[in-house]
Amino acid sequence: MATTLHTLHLTTSPSFKSQPNSKKFQNLHPNTPQLKPHFSSRRLSSTSINAYKVVIEHNNKSTELEVELDETILSKALDSGLEVPYDCNLGVCMTCPARLLDGKVDQSDGMLSDDVIERGYALMCVSYPKSDCHVRIIPEEELLSLQLATAND
Ligand code: FES
Repeated sequence: MATTLHTLHLTTSPSFKSQPNSKKFQNLHPNTPQLKPHFSSRRLSSTSINAYKVVIEHNNKSTELEVELDETILSKALDSGLEVPYDCNLGVCMTCPARLLDGKVDQSDGMLSDDVIERGYALMCVSYPKSDCHVRIIPEEELLSLQLATAND
């Protein structure tokens, strides 16, 4: 039985030079994960927007506030002198419910179920504006009954 030995010669192509910091190199490898800047706060935005307009309806009165990206709507409302209901300030007790009539908020720190959030409800103590918003403070019972109903689904 004859055995054949093969020799593999590896050489670099003279036309290809590794330039890890160049755009040209990254374009040659489209599946290479791109490094993205990491921010310590997920609420920071790369845009120049520092605050959004938030209209709060409460007790048949509308108040427009400028809410910064790193503050909750509840915090701004209280700082502005609005007497809105709240208790734990942690997104747990559900004493600060609102109906999100327009806009988007980040309330990922709260305890509301995804179903309830998709129906347009929010907890003001953990709601950070992601756009201009319009919210209506609602009775706690309205949110509690919905949260319990969806928990049983
Ligand atoms: S104050 Fe408790 S959930 Fe908002």
